[in-house]
Amino acid sequence: MAGLFITLEGGDGSGKSTQSRLLVEWLESQGHTVVVTREPGGTDLGEELREIVLHRRGHMAPRAEALIYAADRAHHIATKVRPALERGDIVVQDRYLDSSVAYQGAGRVLGGDEVRELSLWATEGLLPDVTILLDLDESTGKDRLAESRTKYDRLESEEAEFHGRARDAYLELAAAEPERFLVVDATRPVEDIAATIRDRVSRLL
Ligand code: TYD
Repeated sequence: MAGLFITLEGGDGSGKSTQSRLLVEWLESQGHTVVVTREPGGTDLGEELREIVLHRRGHMAPRAEALIYAADRAHHIATKVRPALERGDIVVQDRYLDSSVAYQGAGRVLGGDEVRELSLWATEGLLPDVTILLDLDESTGKDRLAESRTKYDRLESEEAEFHGRARDAYLELAAAEPERFLVVDATRPVEDIAATIRDRVSRLL
């Protein structure tokens, strides 16, 4: 495919949105056409699924949760991301299949391999060209989040062990695919992190 598919991953409060914004500004200043998107969400159907998966009250079976994220992903990739990549655009996406492996696979203990297979089926095997993992320990993430939030969504409200398992899973994924992942310490200054990301991405342009 002609375009470039960049995903950002990391725990809640790791600074993904700030880094995404800085990366997009830089890419656009270089004359690239960039599609900025996110999961869950990114399409009309996706925004409805996002509302359900993040804010619906009451119990949700873990496999149902995993399938909602996968349904969101299937529609998003088919209708927005693949067409953008086929046009030759750069897609900068907040969260993708590694989020499902970390949160549903490890956090909900559904098993990383099966959850990854589900996402690969949903997307007909689309993997990012580069995945930026903003690594942060779960208690620092929670503290950062508390500075800007008064309400937490269903996933954010999970206990520390859940977020600890997700973080460990992210680091395992990165270790297994070092050519795809760039792991950055999210406690570093914002501008340092942005420069590290630009350096990695510029090698793919
Ligand atoms: P996000 O939009 O990144 O939330 P925030 O802006 O609050 O960080 O993601 C929403 C939540 O959904 C986040 O807690 C992680 C979770 N999530 C999963 O559990 N599995 C997934 O596959 C994805 C994409 C997100």
